[in-house]
Amino acid sequence: MKKEYDILFAPCKIGSLEIKNRFVVPAMSFTDVITWSNHSQTENKIEDFLIRKAKDGVGCFVFGCLYVFNQTNVNDWLYNHPDLFKDIPALMDTLHSYGTKAIQQLGFGAGKAYIMPPVLQDKYDEDKTIKKNADMMMASSDEGLPNRWTPERKTTYLTKERIQEIIHGIAETAYLCKINGIDGVEVHASHEGYMLDQFIAPYCNHRTDEYGGPLENRLRFACEIVKAIKERCGEDYPVLIRYSLVSKTKDFSKGIILTLRSICR
Ligand SMILES: Cc1cc2nc3c(=O)[nH]c(=O)nc-3n(C[C@H](O)[C@H](O)[C@H](O)COP(=O)(O)O)c2cc1C
Repeated sequence: MKKEYDILFAPCKIGSLEIKNRFVVPAMSFTDVITWSNHSQTENKIEDFLIRKAKDGVGCFVFGCLYVFNQTNVNDWLYNHPDLFKDIPALMDTLHSYGTKAIQQLGFGAGKAYIMPPVLQDKYDEDKTIKKNADMMMASSDEGLPNRWTPERKTTYLTKERIQEIIHGIAETAYLCKINGIDGVEVHASHEGYMLDQFIAPYCNHRTDEYGGPLENRLRFACEIVKAIKERCGEDYPVLIRYSLVSKTKDFSKGIILTLRSICR
């Protein structure tokens, strides 16, 4: 093997967390701890996959995005259901026995990228529970922001009170991750139109309060989340934040792919 690849096998540190090499599996939905520990393993083979990769020598996993308001299992904040984490310590022990570390990605909603299934679309206007849950997932940072895939659906404005509830929900879930042996957490931030991306991208954040306007304001929500996690879990607990450094989305339905397509015509 070429000498220039040696670095891939050298240990590195994220704060106090030492990772044995540079092989990191990034977040992929459904590899979150709630999915892989609360579903029958004959139904999904995620645990097998993780252990196989750990045996292969992966240094660190980032488990797929875990929504801190859980709609599928409990329809409630995860922090009210610590029992859902009951199998995690044993699973983390197994990963640790191979020298593999794991970070849990935490998020709130799919934001404007939320794909509303047709069955919900049909019932959205009439059924209050469906509307509430769908809006919760969309978590609009703007009055009447359209959903990416169903633009005729306008989402609900995220109040400052709701922002504080979300920050609290994320910090409390991070704490559950910590006490159940997970090595750190990652905030799902500026990425593909998800909730925090909507705040950071100027084209869809038209707020006039301290969460809108200059970059510092648009980053405020994400920064407050990191601070809250640190306060709850301690300064030493590793907190990552996922940011796309460049956003190519210009406006609704005006991303880089569309631009390229129009150039090709
Ligand atoms: C099935 C699937 C699920 C994903 N889920 C997440 C996720 O939950 N959070 C996230 O930040 N990125 C997610 N991603 C993006 C990946 O972390 C990664 O950035 C992307 O796949 C690009 O890497 P690749 O070129 O090696 O596939 C997902 C990707 C795939 C294919």
